[in-house]
Amino acid sequence: MNALEAINLSKTYSDTDGFFLKNKKNIRAVNDISFTLKENQTLGIVGESGCGKSTLARMLVGLLEPSSGTINLQNKNIQQYQRQELGQVIQYVFQDPLSSLNPRKTIYQSLAAPLKYLHQQDNSLIKEKMLSVMGEVGLKEEFLDRYPHEFSGGQAQRIGIARALLADAKILILDEPVSALDVSIQSQVLNLLNDLKRKFNLSFIVISHDLAVVENISDEIAVMYFGDIVEHNSSKEIFQKPRHPYTELLVGSVPELNKQFADISNKNTELPDPANPPLGCSFYSRCSYGSEKCQNTKTPINSTKKLPFVSCFHPL
Ligand SMILES: Nc1ncnc2c1ncn2[C@@H]1O[C@H](COP(=O)(O)OP(=O)(O)OP(=O)(O)O)[C@@H](O)[C@H]1O
Ligand SMILES: [Mg+2]
Repeated sequence: MNALEAINLSKTYSDTDGFFLKNKKNIRAVNDISFTLKENQTLGIVGESGCGKSTLARMLVGLLEPSSGTINLQNKNIQQYQRQELGQVIQYVFQDPLSSLNPRKTIYQSLAAPLKYLHQQDNSLIKEKMLSVMGEVGLKEEFLDRYPHEFSGGQAQRIGIARALLADAKILILDEPVSALDVSIQSQVLNLLNDLKRKFNLSFIVISHDLAVVENISDEIAVMYFGDIVEHNSSKEIFQKPRHPYTELLVGSVPELNKQFADISNKNTELPDPANPPLGCSFYSRCSYGSEKCQNTKTPINSTKKLPFVSCFHPL
């Protein structure tokens, strides 16, 4: 069974979505993307800042209404789920774990919420369940009475993961789960995720701007650029044989172990304007292989959801 299926999913933020949009423009954030997440697998989604990763994530968990397209969770359309039922199937671990926790609530109160509201768990059983999950993610019992500001980034991330696990959902969307952490702590959290996936038969989407982060934990990787999935393949093939010029650029900038992470966002030009997206390939302005066709023709989408997929007229 597929854990999750996205079919022709798009999101354009219109001027009604945000009063802060200065010039009342439509912003294209996610552009006609399709993919499947298989059960007990991890799909890494990578791409630079602003390419639409969090927008995609928020649609997948039902926090944001897509402009068009379909989302199926465990072979059932997301719209057919009641709120409570949805929370028992899929959980979002937020990009910034500290700010997603209520600063006025203790960790006990934050962690009790999914048990109370999603599972109507009896008060007497809440602490027992909580302590068992906290043990799984390496959190101590004494943390329960503390407030969010009293935690390090790594601990806050573990709390976010614990909260998702307490919902007992089998699909977890982890948005930049380690980007706020020191490199040494990053691998601890990634290893923890791998262990939890095996132990509890979970399916993950792990979102990162850093290809090195998703390399070791992903079965498959989808590379996003400016709202498109430009390449989707097994993790191994993405590294061994990148087919899209953007993936090639990303793979080329993945640092060797213990070296500084490279910042690919400074290379050449900036992203195109999401309020005025280009007609053809959005990577054209940065691409060394581009032709006239690339400039003027809409690039392929993965309508069959088969792998390997590359959205390029001149794949490598
Ligand atoms: N509520 C909103 N209203 C209007 N535009 C938005 C809104 N949220 C995001 N955007 C725009 O949509 C695009 C995608 O944003 P998104 O947050 O999904 O990117 P991201 O890949 O998660 O970036 P990051 O790596 O920085 O977290 C950006 O151009 C962003 O400015
Ligand atoms: Mg984001």
